[in-house]
Amino acid sequence: MTNIIMFTGKGGVGKTTMSVATALHHAGIGKTLLISTDPSGSLSEIFARPLSSKVHTVAVNLDAVELSRKLVLDLWREKFADDIYTVLSSFLPVGREIIDYLEGAPGIEDEFMLDYLLTMAESGEYRAIIWDTAPTVTTLNLLFVQQMFYSHLTQAHKLYFKMKKVFNNVDPLALINRWRSLTERIIDLLRTDTCAWVVANPEHLAVEQAFNIADSFDGFGIEVQGFILNKVLPAEFCQDHPFWQAKYTAQQKCREKMQQRADTRPVKEIPELIGSIQIEGFLREVAGLLHPGR
Ligand SMILES: Nc1ncnc2c1ncn2[C@@H]1O[C@H](COP(=O)(O)OP(=O)(O)O)[C@@H](O)[C@H]1O
Ligand SMILES: [Mg+2]
Repeated sequence: MTNIIMFTGKGGVGKTTMSVATALHHAGIGKTLLISTDPSGSLSEIFARPLSSKVHTVAVNLDAVELSRKLVLDLWREKFADDIYTVLSSFLPVGREIIDYLEGAPGIEDEFMLDYLLTMAESGEYRAIIWDTAPTVTTLNLLFVQQMFYSHLTQAHKLYFKMKKVFNNVDPLALINRWRSLTERIIDLLRTDTCAWVVANPEHLAVEQAFNIADSFDGFGIEVQGFILNKVLPAEFCQDHPFWQAKYTAQQKCREKMQQRADTRPVKEIPELIGSIQIEGFLREVAGLLHPGR
């Protein structure tokens, strides 16, 4: 089964940087897919080509895609729209426009982003999938929607038995069961084949949020493998001016707090580097720091 490695954390902390660096590292071992579900994802800019309409090969052994809302909904339509229409139209006087209506339902795109992830993982094409997630809140929604969806489908099952009489010639139960099994597989994928790295910067809010995320993930049953403390100021550059000395001291406090609270989980530290986000140079350097010894 494909290994899924996700990077999560507050906006701007370095999720995309860590994801791309890790993807480059894994591409050196086997075929790797880099997926971004951040609506403000920057993979297209980094790889200097549009990645929001489909999977593209961006380097040797490395494919990448940005899951835009449009792409997810297009794929959703292709896969499920006919089924849903058949079932609903069997007992409601509705036309195909019901599909447009359903597309607007809250949580639908989150639901189908996870379906996309499952499809890619089950395809067996990739040894690893690196998942660059949206900032905190959206990612957590994604997980809770999944649980809600599951309990909703269990309800749907009960409802079906009550409403059995109104269905004509179609088997909504088969559809409900298919969806339920899909949802189960997604939850299973997240709990058994996925691990998360929580990224933070050495500042109060990012560190607090990192631990909130870790707690939620623990609650959901996704393995938090460790933390990445990114953009740590190197001591040798902070000695000559009171501003940098104070900044350094404040960062050291956050750093200690992170190490204490991380407990047995590793905290990988990446220094503040010079340069902009680009493959050769900056990202290779981060890859070397994140995955030493290769
Ligand atoms: N260790 C680092 N040193 C210097 N700049 C960094 C470092 N990590 C990330 N950056 C820069 O910080 C910005 C935000 O990083 P990014 O990975 O896009 O964060 P996120 O995906 O969490 O929003 C980018 O401009 C990136 O180039
Ligand atoms: Mg990003």
